[in-house]
Amino acid sequence: MSDDATALLRVEGLRKSFGGVHAVDGVDFSIARGEVVAVVGDNGAGKSTVVKMIAGAYTRDEGRIFWEGRPVEPQSPEDAKDLGIETMYQDLALVPDLDPAGNIFLGKEPVRRLFGVVPVLDRAEMRRRSAELLERVRIRLPSLQVPVRQLSGGQRQATAIARFLLSDRAKLIIMDEPTAALGVQEQRKVLDLIEQLKQQGISVLVISHNLEHVLSVADRIIVLRGGRVAGVVPRAAADRQTIVALIVGGTA
Ligand SMILES: Nc1ncnc2c1ncn2[C@@H]1O[C@H](COP(=O)(O)OP(=O)(O)O)[C@@H](O)[C@H]1O
Ligand SMILES: [Mg+2]
Repeated sequence: MSDDATALLRVEGLRKSFGGVHAVDGVDFSIARGEVVAVVGDNGAGKSTVVKMIAGAYTRDEGRIFWEGRPVEPQSPEDAKDLGIETMYQDLALVPDLDPAGNIFLGKEPVRRLFGVVPVLDRAEMRRRSAELLERVRIRLPSLQVPVRQLSGGQRQATAIARFLLSDRAKLIIMDEPTAALGVQEQRKVLDLIEQLKQQGISVLVISHNLEHVLSVADRIIVLRGGRVAGVVPRAAADRQTIVALIVGGTA
């Protein structure tokens, strides 16, 4: 359980409507440092809307967000990044024709001076650091010099994660359905990746439809139903039946 006083993130009374639809209707929860929290719920339960408010992609109608105990107002994804909140989107925001190192360093490329004058990309440094970052999450890519479009889904996700780790600021990584488009082997790799982030003290907020995955990786499971928290279940007390009952609205 996360102790609210020491929580990395705490949200209180989050609300967001779209027209007449109460997408998120009073949501409270917290996440501790190094904790993996899964958010589950039926389609339309409000999962993506909740994480988008935390990630600065949506502004909330009501509610408070506390980061390391202080109230914060993430108004944009950049604000959230500055706090240490990174979001992995489904398209991963990678450039398909660049290699992993090029993607990891996109916009932050190290430069060295040729003959002390001409600025050139320090590709050796990019590859060295990239290998280091991937090693941190225990991922070994066959080559750091192939375009990412040739990598598997799991390897691409690892590249996206390594990019978050580059700045060394990431404290919370949000993933919306990270395993949805992957084969079984690849799904396992993403779950291992989440485990590695946890080992590094990084918190993960993961939305997933796959209850096996959720039960194998999450410390706590938040069930949303109709824009509200239907239940928060610690992994020790979690089983499929309990979670499904909360999702569909039976009594647990
Ligand atoms: N940008 C939007 N504009 C209008 N309605 C939206 C928007 N985003 C979400 N909604 C609505 O809010 C509700 C919750 O959606 P969402 O958070 O995407 O649920 P989930 O991720 O759990 O499937 C749904 O009824 C959805 O149609
Ligand atoms: Mg969604």
